[in-house]
Amino acid sequence: MKVDNSVAIVTGANRGLGRQFAAQLLDRGAAKVYAAARRPESIDLPGVEAIGLDVTEPDQVDAAARTVGAADIVINNAGFSSFARLVDGDMDDIRREIDVNYFGALHVVRAFAPAMRERGRGAFLNVSSVMAWLGYEHSNSYGASKAANWAMSNGLREELAPGIQVSSLLLGSTDTDMMKGIDAPKNRPDVLVSTALDQFEDGVVEILADEAARALKAGLSDDRGRFAK
Ligand SMILES: NC(=O)c1ccc[n+]([C@@H]2O[C@H](COP(=O)([O-])OP(=O)(O)OC[C@H]3O[C@@H](n4cnc5c(N)ncnc54)[C@H](OP(=O)(O)O)[C@@H]3O)[C@@H](O)[C@H]2O)c1
Repeated sequence: MKVDNSVAIVTGANRGLGRQFAAQLLDRGAAKVYAAARRPESIDLPGVEAIGLDVTEPDQVDAAARTVGAADIVINNAGFSSFARLVDGDMDDIRREIDVNYFGALHVVRAFAPAMRERGRGAFLNVSSVMAWLGYEHSNSYGASKAANWAMSNGLREELAPGIQVSSLLLGSTDTDMMKGIDAPKNRPDVLVSTALDQFEDGVVEILADEAARALKAGLSDDRGRFAK
């Protein structure tokens, strides 16, 4: 899906990767970019239209779809990581990850897909994570929610074919607020988003945006995920 002259919406666009997506969509010639955020007043990017959207509130998701109308591109970026452990983490945190990263993303697809189907075209970019593919201390409940997001994309691709592109974005540690407490090598958000959009524009359906994603994918047939401890 080409960005030039498109109408696009990005969820969680007020900071981190979402803000980068919105900025780079404008740079690539999008005709209109809706920057969605729980607090629309927190959108500070010139040139976008800010709209309020908590992806866990179906009424807000439906209202956003009515406001936008026919979107060519939906970047399902909003995400949450609690760093809860599966065995003894807070169940509310674990449910919240599923609510945002799976049900929230699914609500967004269900709200925007009908208009795409009517026109026979459009594209979703669902932001998953390499954590879908490995076990790692303090990220395992988040990983389960991102595995659900990845599986969702695989299913949607079948249900929305032909004509509608469904791409899943797999990426590792990237320098945003989500990772601010973690001491690890991190991708630059601008580079990561540029790589992702290049592949998205080329129609790639499973976007392996960094070395971690490529290595994990290559290691999926191992007994244990390549990075698992
Ligand atoms: N950074 C990484 O290393 C990394 C790696 C793999 C995947 N990812 C994924 O990349 C995406 C972007 O993450 P990021 O790194 O940019 O994280 P971030 O800096 O923490 O930003 C998260 C964004 O999601 C929004 N959000 C959270 N819950 C929401 C909800 N219920 N409704 C609407 N928006 C909500 C946040 O809005 P508020 O400002 O209102 O909280 C914020 O805009 C996420 O899906 C994340 O899981 C990140």
